[in-house]
Amino acid sequence: MNLGLNGKVGIVTGASRGIGAAIVAELVAEGGLVTLAARESEDLRQQTARHAAAQVLCCPADLREADAASRLVAATLARFGKLDFVVANAGTAKMGDLLELSDADWQEGFATKFFGHISLIRAAWPHLRASGGGIVVIAGSAGRTPSTRGVVTGAVNSALLNLTKSLSAQGISDGVQVNAINPGPIRTARFAERVARASRNLGVDAIEAERHLLKESGAFRIGDPEDIAGLVCFLLSPRGRYLQGAIIDADGGKTRTL
Ligand SMILES: NC(=O)c1ccc[n+]([C@@H]2O[C@H](COP(=O)([O-])OP(=O)(O)OC[C@H]3O[C@@H](n4cnc5c(N)ncnc54)[C@H](OP(=O)(O)O)[C@@H]3O)[C@@H](O)[C@H]2O)c1
Repeated sequence: MNLGLNGKVGIVTGASRGIGAAIVAELVAEGGLVTLAARESEDLRQQTARHAAAQVLCCPADLREADAASRLVAATLARFGKLDFVVANAGTAKMGDLLELSDADWQEGFATKFFGHISLIRAAWPHLRASGGGIVVIAGSAGRTPSTRGVVTGAVNSALLNLTKSLSAQGISDGVQVNAINPGPIRTARFAERVARASRNLGVDAIEAERHLLKESGAFRIGDPEDIAGLVCFLLSPRGRYLQGAIIDADGGKTRTL
C-alpha cells in the first residue's frame, strides 16, 4: 500500500531487533529514509544491511548517555537533511516484583525507556515542528494494566502515556503529531525469554508454556512485530493524521480498561 511516506525521514530507536527492526522494514518498504538506533552491535549492523544503503543510516547510540539524543538527531540531519518522525521504541525493563528488584533495576528501566526518549524527543522537537512531523511512542499494555511482576515496566509505560498526552497538547500548537501504541504480548526475543521462564517454572514444554502465557494475558493470540509496524506506518502517514494524543492498545484484546 502506498501510505504517502516516500522520502519521509526519521529515527527508530531499538532498531537492532524485534518490534523496532520490523518498524524499520515497513517504513523502508514505504519509501522512508530511516536512522536505525540501538547500542553498538552486530545485530544493528545486520539490520541496517538488510535495506538499500541509500535509505538507511546505522547510528549506534546508548540512550542512557547524555549526548546520545543530540548525536542521533545531528547524524540524521547530516545524512538526510530533515527530520519528519521519531519512533521511541527502545526499552529494557527487568521483570520481577517489588522485593526482587533493586534501585539499580528501577533506574535502568527509566534511564533507557523514559529519560532516553525524553532527551531524544526534546532534541528532535524543533525539527519536527519545522517539518510538521510526528512521534510514535511504543509504550506497553502494562502501562494501563499493572501486574505484580511487571512493576518497573508498568511504571515506565504509564509515565510514557502521561508524557504522550502532555506532549500532544504542545504538539497541537506546534504542529507536531504525538501518539502512543501499547503492544500486548509480541513474539520477540523478549517474549521468548518469558516463554522459557514459564516453561522452567511450570515444568512444561515451550508450546504449553506459550499457551499458558496467552491464556494469562487474555489476548486472542500472540502478536507479531509486523502488527505493531503496520500501525506505526499508518500513524505517521497522512491517513493517520487526525490522531493526536491517542493511546492505541494493539494487544489482541488484552486491555479491558476503558
Ligand atoms: N515484545 C513484547 O511483548 C512487548 C510488549 C509490550 C511492550 N513492548 C515494548 O516494545 C518495545 C520493543 O520491544 P521488543 O520486544 O522488540 O524488545 P527487544 O527485542 O528487547 O528490543 C529492545 C530494543 O531496545 C534496544 N535498547 C535496549 N537498551 C538500549 C539502550 N540503552 N540504548 C539504545 N537502545 C537500547 C535494544 O538494542 P540493543 O540491546 O542492541 O542496544 C533493542 O533494539 C520496548 O519498549 C518494549 O517495552 C514489547
